[in-house]
Amino acid sequence: MFTRRFGRSWGRFLAGTIFLVCLLVPLRSLTTGQNSTQHDPIVPNAETMITKGRQIFRFDTFGDEAFWGGQLRLNEAIASGLSPRTALSLGLKVDVDALPDQLVQKLRKGDVDLSSPATTLSLLRLNAVVGLTGFFDSSGSQLTSIGIQCALCHSTVNDSLLPGIGSRLDGWANHDLNIGAIAALSPNLQPVADVLGVDVPTVRRVLNSWGPGKFDAELFLDGKAFNPQQVSHGVVTGKNVPGATMIPNAFGLAGFNQHTWTGAWGTVSYWNALVANLEMHGKGTFFDPRLNDAAQFPVAARNGFGNLRTPPDDDRITSKLPALHFFQLAIPAPKPTPGVDFDADSAMRGDVLFGGKAGCIKCHVEPLWTEPGWNLHKPDEIGIDSFEADRAPDHTYKTQNLAAVFVQERGLFMQASHKGRFYHDGRFPTLLDVVNHYNIQFNLGLSVREKLDLVEYLKSL
Ligand code: HEC
Ligand code: HEC
Repeated sequence: MFTRRFGRSWGRFLAGTIFLVCLLVPLRSLTTGQNSTQHDPIVPNAETMITKGRQIFRFDTFGDEAFWGGQLRLNEAIASGLSPRTALSLGLKVDVDALPDQLVQKLRKGDVDLSSPATTLSLLRLNAVVGLTGFFDSSGSQLTSIGIQCALCHSTVNDSLLPGIGSRLDGWANHDLNIGAIAALSPNLQPVADVLGVDVPTVRRVLNSWGPGKFDAELFLDGKAFNPQQVSHGVVTGKNVPGATMIPNAFGLAGFNQHTWTGAWGTVSYWNALVANLEMHGKGTFFDPRLNDAAQFPVAARNGFGNLRTPPDDDRITSKLPALHFFQLAIPAPKPTPGVDFDADSAMRGDVLFGGKAGCIKCHVEPLWTEPGWNLHKPDEIGIDSFEADRAPDHTYKTQNLAAVFVQERGLFMQASHKGRFYHDGRFPTLLDVVNHYNIQFNLGLSVREKLDLVEYLKSL
C-alpha cells in the first residue's frame, strides 16, 4: 500500500516537473533578450515606426507640390523675390544640421548675402528650410515646384547659430510662422478662391489677417473667416477677430482621446489624415460624412471633402498614417528647469491652489493635464464665445493639455513679440491673463499673490 502510494506520488512529481520545465524553457528564452527580434517583434517595430514617422513628419509632402507649386505657383514667388532675410522674418526656419560646415562658418561671420533670393534657393537645394521642399529642374538651377510638410507648422529650431537658424525641435509649434502671408505671396490664388466661392482679393485679405503662429484649418470647411464677437467672462473683447487659431504643439499628445482645439473630430490619426488631404492638399483618401452637412460645413459639402478618393497606387498619404501617428505620440513635451523656467517655491504653493481653491484639476487632470475620457466642454463652461466651437461637430472646446506652457509664456525660440497668446485664438496674452479670466468666470477670489503662484505652477508643468 505504502509503496504503491509512494510510487504514484513520485510519478506525479516527475510528470509535474517535466511539465513545468517544458513550460518555463520557452518562456525563459523569450525574456532573456536572446534572439529578441526573432521572438519579440514589438520593440524593433516601434523603432522602425518612429524612424519612419519622423522622416514623414519632417520631409514628406504627400504630393502636395501639385497644389502649392503646380496650382498656386508659390515657387515662382520664392524664386523671384524671397530673400532669406524676408523668409526668416515670415517665420521660416533653417535647419543648421543640413548645412555644410563652410556655410555655417560663413553665416557665423556674417559673410552670406541674406538679401538675395538666390541664397534662399541654395538653402532649398540643401533641404535646409524646415517644412519646405524645393523641386528643381535637372540642371538644378530652376525651382520648378514647392511642397510643404507637417514640420512647417509643428517644428521650429533652437536658434543655436542665429535667430531662426539652429537644430530642429520636432513637435514645437512655430509661433513665428506667418503661413497666411506666405501663402498670400502666391501669384495664383484662384484655386483657393474657387474652393471658398469668393474672389481673389478676399482670399488675400483673409490670408493676411491671420498673422504669425496662426492658421485657420476650418476656413476650408465652413468659409467663416472672422469671429463677429469675441467674448470672455461676459465681456466683449473683440469684434471681427480673424478666425485663425494658434498652431498647437505636436508633443505630449499621448494618453488622451480628443485632439485639436475643439475636439470632436477624432484622434490624432483622424486629424493627420484630414490635414494631409484637405489642408496641405496631398494626394490621398479621406472619408467623413459629417462634412456633407451643408449647413455647418458649406465649403466642405460643396467640394465633396467628405469623400475624397485616390486609387491605392497613387495614394501618397494612407500608407504613411500608421508611422506618422506612432511618431507623434512618441514626441515628449519638453521639461522646464526649476530656477530657470519657474520659481520652485512659488510653484509649490500654486500646486496646492491648482488642485484646491482654484479647481483647475477638475478639467486639467494631473499628469495628462486634460481629462482621461471625454475631454470636451461647452463654451459657457469656460466662459467664452462659441465661434470656434461651432465650427466643429460637437460645438465644444477641448481641455487643452498644459504640458510645457512655459515655452510659450517665456517665448523660447520665437520673436519676443510672438510669445504668450493662450486659448485657441490667442486672446489671453499671458498666463496671468488666463488666471484672471478663470478668477472672474468661476468667482475664485484669488489674491494677487495666489494668482502669481498659480502662474509659476503652470510654468512648471
Ligand atoms: C499650415 C500649418 C499646419 C500644417 C502644415 C500642419 N498643421 Fe497640424 N495643426 C495646425 C493648426 C492650426 C492646428 C489646430 C487646428 C484646430 O484646432 O482647429 C493643428 C492641429 C494639429 C494636431 C492636434 C494637436 C492638439 O493639440 O490636439 C495634430 C496632432 C496635428 N496638427 C498634426 C499635424 C500633422 C501630422 C501634419 C502633417 C500631416 C500637420 N499637423 C500639418 C497647423 C498645421
Ligand atoms: C471646465 C473645465 C476647465 C477648468 C475648470 C479649467 N480649464 Fe483651463 N482650459 C479648459 C479648456 C476647454 C481650455 C481650452 C480653451 C480654448 O480652446 O480656447 C483651457 C485652456 C487653458 C489654458 C490655455 C492653454 C493654451 O495652450 O493656450 C490654460 C493656461 C488653462 N486652461 C489653465 C487653467 C487654470 C489655471 C485653471 C484653474 C484656474 C483652469 N484652466 C481651469 C478647461 C478648463
